[in-house]
Amino acid sequence: MKQKIQEKFKSLFGEEGVLYASAGRINLIGEHTDYNGGYVFPGAIDCGIMAAIKVNGTPKVKVFSLDYNELCEFGLEEKDAPEKAWARYIFGVCRETIKRGGKVEGFNAVFAGDVPLGAGLSSSAALESCFAFALNDIFKNNIDKFELAKIGQSTEHNYCGVKCGIMDQFASVFGKEGALIRLNCKTLEYKYFPFHPKGYKLVLIDSCVKHELASSAYNKRRASCENAAAAIRKKHPEVEFLSDAKRLWLDEVREEIPQEDFLRAEYVIGEVQRVLDVCDALERDDYETVGEMMYQTHFGLSRLYEVSCEELDFLNKLARKMDVTGSRVMGGGFGGCTINLVKEELYDGFIAAAKEQFQAKFGHAPKIYDVVISDGARKL
Ligand code: GLA
Repeated sequence: MKQKIQEKFKSLFGEEGVLYASAGRINLIGEHTDYNGGYVFPGAIDCGIMAAIKVNGTPKVKVFSLDYNELCEFGLEEKDAPEKAWARYIFGVCRETIKRGGKVEGFNAVFAGDVPLGAGLSSSAALESCFAFALNDIFKNNIDKFELAKIGQSTEHNYCGVKCGIMDQFASVFGKEGALIRLNCKTLEYKYFPFHPKGYKLVLIDSCVKHELASSAYNKRRASCENAAAAIRKKHPEVEFLSDAKRLWLDEVREEIPQEDFLRAEYVIGEVQRVLDVCDALERDDYETVGEMMYQTHFGLSRLYEVSCEELDFLNKLARKMDVTGSRVMGGGFGGCTINLVKEELYDGFIAAAKEQFQAKFGHAPKIYDVVISDGARKL
């Protein structure tokens, strides 16, 4: 990929650029908890975005996407926002850097990626954090790493219409080889947990289902949670985020909020606790408990949060039937992957059965990705 990027850069701009990279992410547990001030437990993976970049001495940014085979040129003022979806991420990162007092001047860039799109592996966060990290380095802005993650998050909010939490961009910026990171999304305290589950494999099965309305459905879930938190806050003013609420407090407002909001909140409150339980279990190498929590999360995401789909429920059920230790839908949902914790000796049989039975039922094959936990944003 490096070579292809540099060759294109040379042919377009007559020299080589400086190379930067960033990563997609997995999340072992803690889904839809980030914008509720709860815990998440992600890690960066070995696929991501790579970009060659160089200042060009003009007021314009010229970016070429190798994957789309398209060039886009834009200025750095708010009114210059490009139409192309992929370019809006880069424009957003420039604008959000400038809003934070950072310097950004015209530059040339060529980038490419190998994060499967729409699989729930945060290809967009990888793109944002690659450029946020690179611009910070090139223009010597000295913006700290959390703020770089927030530049990506605000890009989603302000330029792409997704009111996401901080998990994806955090994982993409802070990721470290061989480690998952537990982040408290309210206090932003975090801790690395080495993750080498002996005798197990972590594998993703991509249903290849993409939900068209995923971003509006996502924003709707967030609104439900905020509504539930607001109702609880009236009785318990200490509740800033939904994750601050006790389960009992949710029961107290049951009649005051729509049933749908109640179910969403019930899931979130349970999920925050499950992240802590999984971290405790990991410290004892108790993978059976980790796996059981993953199944509980799937149940919650499917029945209470309603972000699963027939294909993902099918894969989850099959995992259970084949004694896979843990399995659940991963990421925002509405399609994408399941993440599975599988005993090594069961791996081949499980993957073969998943491929065959999924194909027979849905008429297309799922994709299989073995997870390698890797470094996040960096200069190459
Ligand atoms: C998407 C969002 C994240 C997070 C997950 C669900 O990936 O970008 O902020 O909310 O969904 O856990």
